[in-house]
Amino acid sequence: MTAPFRTIGQPVGKIDGVELVTGRARYTADLQFPGSLQAVARRAGVAAGLLRHLNVEEARRSPGVVLVLTPADLPGPNLIGILPPFDQPLLAGPEIRHEGDSLALVVAETQEEAEAAASRIVAEIEPFIPLLDPEEALHADARKIHANGNLTFAKQLLKGDVEAGFAQAEVIVEDTYRTSVQDHAYLEPEAVLAVPESDGRLTVYASCQSPFHLRGHIAVNTGLPASRVKVVQPFVGGSFGGKDDAVTEMGSLAGAAALKLGRPVRIVHSRRDSFLGSHARHAAIIHLKTGAMRDGTIIARQAEILLDGGAYASESPFVVMKALIHVAGPYKIPHLRVDCRAVYTNKRQAGAMRGFGVPQVTFASESQIDALARKLGLDRWELRRHNALTVGEANATSQVFHESVGLVQTLERVKEEGDWPACLKRAHAGDNPRFKRGVGLAAMMQGISNGAEGIDVVGASVQVSQDGSVLVGLGLTELGQGSRTAMAQIAAEILGVSLEKISVRQVDTDTVHDSGPTVASRTTTVGGKAVWMAAQTVRTSLLEMAGLMLKAPAEAIELGLDHAYLRENPQAQIPLAQVATAAYWTGFPLMNLAFSRAPDAQYDHETHQGQIYIAYNYGTHLMEVEVDTWTGKVRVLRHLASHDVGKAINPLGVEGQVEGASLMGLGFAHLEEVLEENGKIRNANFADYQIPSFAERLPTRFLPVEEATSNGPFGAKGIGEPPLAGAAAAFTNAVSDALGISFRRLPITPQRILEALEG
Ligand code: MOS
Repeated sequence: MTAPFRTIGQPVGKIDGVELVTGRARYTADLQFPGSLQAVARRAGVAAGLLRHLNVEEARRSPGVVLVLTPADLPGPNLIGILPPFDQPLLAGPEIRHEGDSLALVVAETQEEAEAAASRIVAEIEPFIPLLDPEEALHADARKIHANGNLTFAKQLLKGDVEAGFAQAEVIVEDTYRTSVQDHAYLEPEAVLAVPESDGRLTVYASCQSPFHLRGHIAVNTGLPASRVKVVQPFVGGSFGGKDDAVTEMGSLAGAAALKLGRPVRIVHSRRDSFLGSHARHAAIIHLKTGAMRDGTIIARQAEILLDGGAYASESPFVVMKALIHVAGPYKIPHLRVDCRAVYTNKRQAGAMRGFGVPQVTFASESQIDALARKLGLDRWELRRHNALTVGEANATSQVFHESVGLVQTLERVKEEGDWPACLKRAHAGDNPRFKRGVGLAAMMQGISNGAEGIDVVGASVQVSQDGSVLVGLGLTELGQGSRTAMAQIAAEILGVSLEKISVRQVDTDTVHDSGPTVASRTTTVGGKAVWMAAQTVRTSLLEMAGLMLKAPAEAIELGLDHAYLRENPQAQIPLAQVATAAYWTGFPLMNLAFSRAPDAQYDHETHQGQIYIAYNYGTHLMEVEVDTWTGKVRVLRHLASHDVGKAINPLGVEGQVEGASLMGLGFAHLEEVLEENGKIRNANFADYQIPSFAERLPTRFLPVEEATSNGPFGAKGIGEPPLAGAAAAFTNAVSDALGISFRRLPITPQRILEALEG
C-alpha cells in the first residue's frame, strides 16, 4: 500500500458518535429483561475488624427480598484479583480490611427493597485500630492486614553506580513529594446484569474494561466452565482502568445469584458504591534526589517510592513497575537507583488508573527539574532539552531506541508555538497584588504496551462480506476512547473500503478472541497491529481474485474507494462487491483471525535493565496560569500539549484523548482528592469530591509529533494516558512559578494555595 493514505490520518468522527450523542447508545443499566431482580451489597462500614456474627434474618424477611447471599452460599472460591495469588474476597469475613468490603448481597424485586433490606443486616464487628498510614503499615510490629504481611510488592531499578554519580555531582536537589487518591469519576458507575439462559449458560452484560478477565472470574466463582459464560460489553461510559476489579466482584456475585434463582440479577452501583466498592489511584510518597553538573547535565538520581495500595493488591504490582521505570523521566541519566514499594492499608484498594503510576512520579520528577533549574540559574526549557533522551541514547532501563523518540521534537514545537521567551517575560509582567501569573513546563514519557507487566498478545478478526462490507472484531474494548473508530480506519485503509462500510463488533466473549486487558495505552498499537495483520490476509484474497478478473498479476492491483483497480490504469476497475462475491464462490478466504505478539520484554529482574516497552510516547506540556491570591483560584490561560504519537490514525480522536487526559490531569493536580477520616471516605459523591467541570475545561492546543514506531500499525503509538501526567506536572510548575512557592503535595487546591500564601 502506498501513501498518501485515504483513511489513516484523516480526522473522522467516531463511528458510533451519532448513537452516543443522540442517546440511542444503550449502557448496561439501560438493558431490560423481564423478571429482572436488583441486588445491593451490604458493606462493612468499618475500616478494620473481625466479623463476629452476621445476622441476615431480618433482611431475608424484608418485603421484596428473594435472596441474601453470604459467603457460605457461594459455590466458588470466593476470591478475585488481578494477579495470583488472588487476595480479594467477593464477600468478606471474618477479617474486615476496609470500609467498602462487601459482607452480603441482598437480591430483591426492586432497588429500594434491596437497599432497605441491606440496611437491616446486622454485622457484629470487633473493630481493630485501622492501619491508615502506609509508612506505619511497613513497621515490623504493625498488624498484618494479609497473612503474608503488609508489603504488597517491591521492586528495584539499578543503573550505573549511583554513589559514584552523586560523588561526582556539583549540585544536588532533594525533596519529598506526595500525591493523593484520585477517583476514576467516570460518568457511568459500574454495572452488571447476569442472565441465566435456557441452555444452562450464563450471560453477563457488564460495564467492564476487560471482558475475558471478567469471564474467567465469573466461571471460577460460579463453578461453570468459562465456555458456558458469555460476557457482553454494551457501551461503556468511561473506565480509565477502573472497571476491572469492582466489576469482577459484581459480575461474580450477580452470576451466582442469577444461577441460584433462575432470574436475571442486576447490580448498578450508586456513586457512593462506586467510591466505596471500586479501586482508585494510588496515593504516593516519593522521596527524590537528583545530582547534576553546573552546566545542567544530570548525572545521578535516586528515588524511594511508596504507594498506598489499600486493602487489596489489585494492580499494585503493575503500578509499582510503571512508577519504578518512569521516575527517571525522559532524560538520559547514567546513574540511577529506584526503590518502589506498594503496601497494604485499611483503605479502599488502589489499582489501575489512567497513567498507572506515571502521573505521580512525573509530578515529582518535573518539580525537581524546576528546582534544579532554579538552583543552577538555568533556563527551564534549556535544562530539559540538554538532558532529553534522543534516538540512540540509553533510557532508565538502558534500552536504546533507534526510532520513534520524538521528545526533542515535542520540546521544540512547544518552544516555538508557545514562544517560550515571551512566556517568561509575560509571566510576571502583569502581576498585581491580587493576581499572579506564572508559566510551567513539563516533559514526560510513558511506556506503551504491557512491557514488563505482561505478554502482549492480541487476537483480531476481519471478515469481508460478499457486498464488500467489513466486520472487525477484537478483544480489546471501546471505553469511550475511540478504539472502534481507529480499528475501522485501519481495516478500511488496508482493504480499500470506505469507513461507512466497516462495522466493529462490541465485545462479546463468544464472538471475539481474548486479547488480554485493555490497558497501558496498548489498544491502538498492539490491537491495531492485529487488525492490520488480519486485514492483510483478506486483502491478499481480494487482490488475487481481482487479478484473475482483470487478467493481471495480483501485484498490479490496488484497492481503494470500494473498488479494485489496476495501479497503472485506474480506469480498469471492478467494484469491490463483485470481487468479494467472486472470491467467496472461488473459495478464497474472506475472513481471517490473526494474532499479534509484541516483542517480549527482556530484562534483568533484579535491576530492571533491558528491553521493557515496545515504544514510548513522549510529550511536552506548557501552561500559563493566573492565580487569584485572595481566593486561591487558578485560571489556566494557555495550554500547549505536544506528544509524539508515532502516527495519528485519527487526529480528531488523538486530540480528544489529549484534551480529556489533560483535564483529568488538572483534576489530579488541582481539585481531586478522596478524603478519609479513620478509614472512612468523607466525600463519596460529586458534590464534595470535585472533578473539573465544563467551566474548568482547559484551552488545550495539541501539537502533534509523528515519529513512527515499527511496532505499531502505520507507526502509531498510544495516547490515552500520557497527557494526564504532562498536564498535571505543567500545572504544578506554573502555579509554583506564579507564586514563587514550591508545592510538593498534590492536589494544589485553592485552600492549599491560600494556606501556602499565609505560611
Ligand atoms: Mo490502565 S491504568 O493501564 O487500566
